[in-house]
Amino acid sequence: MTAPEWQNKLYFGDNLPIMREHIADASVDLIYLDPPFNSNANYNVLFQEKSGQQSAAQIMAFEDTWHWDAGSELAYREIVTNAPGKLPELLQAMRSFLGDNDMMAYITMMAQRIVELRRVLKESGSIYLHCDPTASHYLKLLMDSVFGNRNFRNEIIWHYRKWPTGKFTFQRNHDIILFYSRSRNRDRVFNQLYMERAPSTLKRFGTARIVSGHSETGQRTPSQVEPEDSIGVRQDDVWEIGRVPPIKQLFPTQKPDALLERIINASSNEGDIVLDPFCGCGTAIVTAEHLKRRWIGIDVTHLAITLIRHRLYDAFKGELRPYEVLGQPQDVASAQALATDSENNGRYQFEWWALGLVDARPAQDRKKGADSGIDGYINFFDDNSGKAKRIVAQVKSGHVNRGQIATLKGDMEREKAEIGLFITLQEPTRPMFAEATAAGFYTPEHYPDNHYPRIQILTIGELLAGGRRAEYPRLAPEATFRRAPRRRSGGAQSRFA
Ligand SMILES: C[S@@+](CC[C@H](N)C(=O)[O-])C[C@H]1O[C@@H](n2cnc3c(N)ncnc32)[C@H](O)[C@@H]1O
Repeated sequence: MTAPEWQNKLYFGDNLPIMREHIADASVDLIYLDPPFNSNANYNVLFQEKSGQQSAAQIMAFEDTWHWDAGSELAYREIVTNAPGKLPELLQAMRSFLGDNDMMAYITMMAQRIVELRRVLKESGSIYLHCDPTASHYLKLLMDSVFGNRNFRNEIIWHYRKWPTGKFTFQRNHDIILFYSRSRNRDRVFNQLYMERAPSTLKRFGTARIVSGHSETGQRTPSQVEPEDSIGVRQDDVWEIGRVPPIKQLFPTQKPDALLERIINASSNEGDIVLDPFCGCGTAIVTAEHLKRRWIGIDVTHLAITLIRHRLYDAFKGELRPYEVLGQPQDVASAQALATDSENNGRYQFEWWALGLVDARPAQDRKKGADSGIDGYINFFDDNSGKAKRIVAQVKSGHVNRGQIATLKGDMEREKAEIGLFITLQEPTRPMFAEATAAGFYTPEHYPDNHYPRIQILTIGELLAGGRRAEYPRLAPEATFRRAPRRRSGGAQSRFA
């Protein structure tokens, strides 16, 4: 049963301190983690322009690169002095084998987190670590040393197809998912899944069922053929699931819903808590919501948080259960700190976060480069034509002036937008307001008594205080978010509408 006071949680921030401060011991039923793989690739959120050139505003969704630095050294020392079991020995051995290189930095980062993940997992719980052959062999050693090799359950091969890459090797077409249980406890959750039988099996045995059992001593008994009176063969550990989901991909490393459905169905029950500490655009979160599990998601980019909020809203609308968004700036000073954090792409992080304040979608979500001058957009409907009207949004964290409002006007015309939002951290000047006022009002054809300023200047302070919000027709909210297929969930009110 779901505890009545529970609310699902979406945290912005580094998962290590968040787990340490906010997630209690033995409180989670299932963990799925899909950390960056140390593939040495910087995943660009802004997709390549058609010309093949990178978009003007190249932003890293996250930097999938680690370097051995003072932070790695500190983390390494912390593990070697404090970590339980054999992990300190393993890590020292790995360092003498690998040296102080990028892989060692990655392994050290992961070791700290795997220790925390074990702490928060219930005795009956399971963990699925999604990785690829770049680091899977090292990660398996870490998992063995933290969870115990007796608790290793499966190495799942996720086989997919993609465009051919590389020469002089076999095409690389699989990821690896390491499945461990927290203990060998008899109560651990595992729901047997079944799969379709191969056509050759069906041909040979008709509708008969093939059973291979185990004797009491654990010896395998020969396969038997039973008349078919139930479903198919047990799910095996090679999973054929399309790599690109049927919907448009929101995120470069987005995983298919079907993959997460399989994991969540197998290793949790309704009402259980699912944790994804590297949640990206939220595939595990959305699937957990769909399957009526409780959930906790953590990601270190505001882009991920903003995309997940939209994805949840798109999928469940008013049926979405309430959830909390935690760790985001709550006042102007912390917004300022975010914007000026140059080490962590602060300017872009600030933009993604500020767009979330007005429920605007990041423009790169629709493959638009920032060279269009537009940071985000909102679609709305105010008639029955089925054609959405558009609001464009610009976000500024630095100095602002009248010329920027004039530029926004031009951008609105080019984008055929009815309304423009100018979101600013700094206080706007009088000439800016004058320029905005001169743009006049948008009056919907069917609601001639409603007038909305065409250019709206909104400060971060006003938005945080809750005194202002973007003004536009909110007449058919269901229709404004129609991209993703609607899914049902047994929830109550949306907080995001
Ligand atoms: C491979 S992606 C996850 C994709 C996800 N499974 C999905 O389907 O969308 C990894 C994510 O981990 C996040 N990340 C990297 N380091 C992190 C950290 N220390 N704490 C929290 N999130 C982190 C990145 O921002 C990125 O969104």
